[in-house]
Amino acid sequence: MSEQDKVFIFDTTLRDGEQSPGATMSHDEKLEIAGLLDEMGVDIIEAGFPIASEGDFAAVKAISEQAQTSVICGLARANFKDIDRCWDAVKHAKRPRIHTFIGTSPLHRAIPNLNMDEMADKIHETVSHARNLCDNVQWSPMDATRTEEDYLCRVVEIAIKAGATTINIPDTVGYTAPRESAALIQMLLERVPGADEIIFATHCHNDLGMATANSLAAVEAGARQVECTINGLGERAGNTALEEVVMALKVRNDIMPFQTGIDSTKLMNISRRVASVSGFAVQFNKAIVGKNAFAHESGIHQDGMLKNAETFEIMRPEDVGLSETNLVMGKHSGRAALRSKLAELGFELGDNQLKDVFVRFKALADQKKEIYDDDLIALMQTGDADADHIKLTALSVSCGMDLEKSAEMTLEIGGEAKSVTATGDGPVDAAFNAVKALFPHKARLQVYQVAAVTEGTDAQATVSVRLEEDGKIATGQSADVDTVVASVKAYVDALNRLVVRREKSGGDVAEVSYKDVS
Ligand code: KIV
Ligand code: ZN
Repeated sequence: MSEQDKVFIFDTTLRDGEQSPGATMSHDEKLEIAGLLDEMGVDIIEAGFPIASEGDFAAVKAISEQAQTSVICGLARANFKDIDRCWDAVKHAKRPRIHTFIGTSPLHRAIPNLNMDEMADKIHETVSHARNLCDNVQWSPMDATRTEEDYLCRVVEIAIKAGATTINIPDTVGYTAPRESAALIQMLLERVPGADEIIFATHCHNDLGMATANSLAAVEAGARQVECTINGLGERAGNTALEEVVMALKVRNDIMPFQTGIDSTKLMNISRRVASVSGFAVQFNKAIVGKNAFAHESGIHQDGMLKNAETFEIMRPEDVGLSETNLVMGKHSGRAALRSKLAELGFELGDNQLKDVFVRFKALADQKKEIYDDDLIALMQTGDADADHIKLTALSVSCGMDLEKSAEMTLEIGGEAKSVTATGDGPVDAAFNAVKALFPHKARLQVYQVAAVTEGTDAQATVSVRLEEDGKIATGQSADVDTVVASVKAYVDALNRLVVRREKSGGDVAEVSYKDVS
């Protein structure tokens, strides 16, 4: 593959993705996701925003130490303190990168109250400082798509002269459209001296649903790095989805002759892991990795598929790591069968992980005779609660017509068992009231959603719960054959994530603002 035709994949799931409200990941979860990204062939992993909190710093440092092949990048605002902190975290990587940015559009210049010349000087100083520390420096003019073209050319030239090796052009608010996205990259390549010596990146948000199209248009115009996230996770409507870019370039190589170094057969696994650890379930009709992306319901489609799969499929399920079989597992299935079934589904487990999953699998098999692929996926998406601050250890509910609805519950909170009986309008309401009595909090329930994993009345229920407390959002998920148990576990999962967010809030990203630009 010539460097000309290669498109570098820059994954920012752990930075921009984790910034999306409620998507907080634990330290270990970030390390696991970074490991999967590295293994899959991601060229650059943006591992976090080291100045944002001690937790972010520790995660970026640990990911830097663990990375095998990927470049590890950290984010820094346009000030020396941020840049030094970023370098302290990423310098442990075999291939470190500093990514520094400043908002260059009129709206963003107005906030730190810098005029055009003052901002240009700041860009020169900060990029030069970053380049003195690290020979791989990325610079981003935030809100580039709403920055005056002449000024954008001027600051990009300054950043290149100061030593930036990658210039990222963010569509921060998801405002651009494909033709405009391409024209902007083309304009920069034509007008900025030195533009042919660096890599242009495209970083698109999805507010108008055009992020992936805008990124691909930028590539066609000359950008050679696409910034994206798994499942399109990210602020507001999210970012360009990695899996969409990779598969679009693979399937339509005839009209977009560019290649990535991504092993596409790992896409389904990483999508499921990110959904699980972020608490953001993948919508059923999501391109490439949605549950229905390869499902065929209508008679004519099914008939066509049986005769020739290409009639209704532009890529094969196995290209994205989806197995075709749906072998039923049950309580007599052993550990080896479980390992091989999970591997078929794209989950490669180490011995310790398998041990934990096997215990949960057996518990499920005791409750449910036949365990389908979707049950196993739900099981993998329900985390191991061992490390959690709050754990559900006992629950019984009483409900029915003309009966008072009540829930008797024991929670282990920070290692101490506490019990209560609470009432409510229904069994779930009573159980949630019991949680509130045992672990008082101000969090407001924003979303409560229940779906069946498979068909039949013995199907597991997957429950999503979204909580909001003082502007912080946390999403929890769980699955169980008992809907009330699944509901409480999802609620407790969301509370545990809020606890983590509270611990982080000493220097949370939300509090890292413009005030430290200089
Ligand atoms: O969307 C954006 O502008 C960003 C920058 C920090 C690159 O995420
Ligand atoms: Zn962004």
